[in-house]
Amino acid sequence: MSDLMKVTIDGITVEVAPGTSILNAARQIGGDIVPPAMCYYSKLEGSGGKCRTCIVKVSKGSEKDPRPMPKLVASCRTTVMDGMEVQNITSPEVLEARNGVVEMLLINHPLDCPICDQAGECDLQNLGYENGLQRTRYEFERRTFERIDIGDKIQLHMNRCILCYRCVFTADQITNKRVHGILNRGDHSEISTYIQTAVDNDFSGNVIDVCPVGALTDKTFRFKNRVWFTKPVDAHRNCDHEKCNGKVTLWYKGADVLRVTARKDQFGEVEEFICNTCRFEKKATSDWNIEQPTAIADTSVIASNHYDTFRPLPVIKENLALQEANKVELEKSTKF
Ligand code: SF4
Ligand code: SF4
Ligand code: FES
Repeated sequence: MSDLMKVTIDGITVEVAPGTSILNAARQIGGDIVPPAMCYYSKLEGSGGKCRTCIVKVSKGSEKDPRPMPKLVASCRTTVMDGMEVQNITSPEVLEARNGVVEMLLINHPLDCPICDQAGECDLQNLGYENGLQRTRYEFERRTFERIDIGDKIQLHMNRCILCYRCVFTADQITNKRVHGILNRGDHSEISTYIQTAVDNDFSGNVIDVCPVGALTDKTFRFKNRVWFTKPVDAHRNCDHEKCNGKVTLWYKGADVLRVTARKDQFGEVEEFICNTCRFEKKATSDWNIEQPTAIADTSVIASNHYDTFRPLPVIKENLALQEANKVELEKSTKF
């Protein structure tokens, strides 16, 4: 007998291993039925359960106990049972509740999109379009914080933080020493400024990539360009840092590399974390072996108007002459 469990999400059935969360079962199906996740991050142990954007309705608990669950549940924190039936986008109740969650997330959020570096690749911005109200009903003053420089490469803009804890888990699990966290409770919660001391670590830049909003930004990229005017290209280098595989995305404007990030998967999660040397100090094409244009979802604003003239480039193998030729090629193909 198979150990797999059958779960049906929005009418689509999938078989998954015991212990799989509803969210990950939905990700195995893919497409529109995958709930949005602002705090869960598959690479970070213990993440999830904070933002409630991933809520779903369990209309049938299991084959053995078919009673529905009495309340909507966080799909990232609820494991599947055999015979479970779940509704996400097919449930008006879920969609209405998610609208409420998004409204709450935006209660203190500034209207910074026109100047925010995260715009164009911001999960909250996307959620706002899909589930947000046109205007706020909140009448009280928004809480505001001073911007904090976390060393010379990262800036914390707490006004935009949604307290998802991802950066805390990243610093805790990816870097050698955790020196920051969330201070206080409720409306007074904030990422502790102790994060400033975390920048010594070789992997601290990853907090920028895991942040779902523009609260943690790359100071070497800040205000340099809008992300939809840049062209992402996959590249790699032989990084001598033992935990870094040197696989990145380079974000080009013309022939200039404006920023370097880790590569992200279809769910917007980092595939593998990269070190600060690759991220902040390697901004020349000659530092990298170019692979190909990064695959970007059609629905992303980053994909718009880019790929009609963009040609894949040959893979370069430690050959400087080829790299130079490639740079010229790249310059031609990224002009817009
Ligand atoms: S974090 Fe996202 S929603 Fe907030 S201002 Fe920046 S782009 Fe807009
Ligand atoms: S700074 Fe970003 S990653 Fe950290 S808790 Fe706030 S929103 Fe999450
Ligand atoms: S992604 Fe599930 S609660 Fe945030």
